[in-house]
Amino acid sequence: MLKVEGLEVRYGRLTALRGVSLHVERGETVCLIGPNGAGKSTLFACIAGGVSATHGSVTLDGKRIAGRRPEQIARSGLSLVPEGRNIFKTLTVEENLRLGAFMAKDRESIQARLDEVMAHFPRLAERFRSSAGSLSGGEQQMLAIGRALMTGPRIMLVDEPSLGLAPKIVDQVYEILMSLRDEKALTLLINEQSSKRALRHANRIYVLRSGEMRLEGRAEDLQDGEAVMRAYFGFDERREVGEAAQ
Ligand SMILES: Nc1ncnc2c1ncn2[C@@H]1O[C@H](COP(=O)(O)OP(=O)(O)OP(=O)(O)O)[C@@H](O)[C@H]1O
Ligand SMILES: [Mg+2]
Repeated sequence: MLKVEGLEVRYGRLTALRGVSLHVERGETVCLIGPNGAGKSTLFACIAGGVSATHGSVTLDGKRIAGRRPEQIARSGLSLVPEGRNIFKTLTVEENLRLGAFMAKDRESIQARLDEVMAHFPRLAERFRSSAGSLSGGEQQMLAIGRALMTGPRIMLVDEPSLGLAPKIVDQVYEILMSLRDEKALTLLINEQSSKRALRHANRIYVLRSGEMRLEGRAEDLQDGEAVMRAYFGFDERREVGEAAQ
C-alpha cells in the first residue's frame, strides 16, 4: 500500500535520512522505533508531504506521492498525526475536529465524520465544546487522532502517540488505535518509543538509527527483543570496532 524507496532528506548540511526504504501492506500495523534524532519524525513528515526529499520515491497504491502537497496526499487517503499533536489549544474540541474535515464537501458528510469520531472517542464527545487546552494529555492525543480521522484516511501515520503520557493512558490510546484497525480496516504506521509496546501491537517492526534503516522484521520473529535492541543501540557495530581494535 505504502512504499518508500531510497529516501534521502537533508536539512542544510545535515543528512537526516539516507537511503531509507520501508513498506506497509494493506491492513498491517507497522511500528517504527529508534533513538532520539534517528529521523523518525522526518520520515513521517516526508511521507505526508511536509518535508521534501532530495532522493528516493514514495508511492501510495502504486502512485507517486513524493513532491505532492500535504492536502493532496491527505486526499489520496493518508493522514498524519504529528509529533507533539499540533492541537489548537484556544479552539474547542469541535473546532479542532472540523479543521480536520477541510476536504469534505458538504455539511452532511462532515457531520457523519464527526459522529463516527465521537463513537470511537466518547471522552471527546463529552468535552465537545471545551477548549482543547483544557484537555488532559491523553485526551489531546485522542483529539489529534480524531482530527486525523476526519479526513477519512485508509492509512494513518501516528508519530509518538505515547509521548508524555502515563502507561495506563497509553494503553487506552492503543486500545483505540487497535479498534480503529479492526473496525475501520485502518492501516497503521506508528512511531513508538517503547520496543515492548511495538512488539506487542505490530505485525512488523523497523528500527531506524542515525538516519538509516538498521532492521526490519516480523514482530513474531523478534519477540525476545534482542535483535531490536542491538539495532537500536548499534551494539553490532561497536563489537566490530572492538574486534578490529584487538
Ligand atoms: N527542521 C529541522 N531543521 C534542521 N534539522 C532538523 C530539523 N528537524 C529535525 N532536524 C534534525 O534531523 C535529525 C532527525 O530528527 P527527527 O526529529 O526526524 O528525529 P526523531 O527520530 O523523530 O527524534 P525524536 O525521537 O527526538 O522525536 C536530528 O538530528 C534533528 O536535529
Ligand atoms: Mg520525532
